Amino acid sequence: MAVRNVSCAIFPGARVALMGPSGSGKSTLLHLLAGLVRPTSGSIEGELVEAGKPAGPGTVGLVFQSPSLIPALDVLENVALPLILAGSPEGAARGAARDALALLGIDWLEGNLPEQLSGGQAQRAAVARVLACQPRLILADEPTGQLDHATGVHVIEVLIQAADSLDAALLVSTHDPLIAGMLAEMWQMQDGGLRDPDEQETS
Ligand SMILES: Nc1ncnc2c1ncn2[C@@H]1O[C@H](COP(=O)(O)OP(=O)(O)O)[C@@H](O)[C@H]1O
Ligand SMILES: [Mg+2]
Repeated sequence: MAVRNVSCAIFPGARVALMGPSGSGKSTLLHLLAGLVRPTSGSIEGELVEAGKPAGPGTVGLVFQSPSLIPALDVLENVALPLILAGSPEGAARGAARDALALLGIDWLEGNLPEQLSGGQAQRAAVARVLACQPRLILADEPTGQLDHATGVHVIEVLIQAADSLDAALLVSTHDPLIAGMLAEMWQMQDGGLRDPDEQETS
């Protein structure tokens, strides 16, 4: 089993780095929290996922570890798509998408197709797509893995700033201790388990 016996809680204001070796279950935990996969046992509860009404498309945002842009759409269309699918008027969706791209410093790439982007540019577009939806829980799976250190630091700063202004929680998986050090808390995974967050070091 990819993840087992994990118990954790995350609140608005949380700024958490999720660390652990490859295969320790980081992506699986993030996918569970995003509601993309259901636990075979146990439950995931919260303001975002219960209360009898479906979570809006914006309430939880996940930046995937692997490239996830739609190849046939340009960058602006990719970033605006979740808002359009959620019923935003196209003009408002494109405006929000442009703002998010500007935050990530890649608004100049808005007309490019994904195949015309570097790995790091595509990663930043995927971050912009999440922020454009103004989620209350921001999950990012190794968002700096393809970036040079300075750009990685910038992306984490943008994520923290966005989380602050949205009063959101932020959970970022990373292998990089310097990136992890930018976040207030660290959760450590190993062999599909998570050490009790109460016992984790805070910095
Ligand atoms: N749906 C699944 N069913 C069973 N095992 C899985 C599934 N998805 C991933 N795994 C396995 O679970 C472990 C954790 O994977 P993953 O969450 O991707 O770890 P990480 O992101 O920390 O590298 C790996 O051994 C992986 O092969
Ligand atoms: Mg992973």
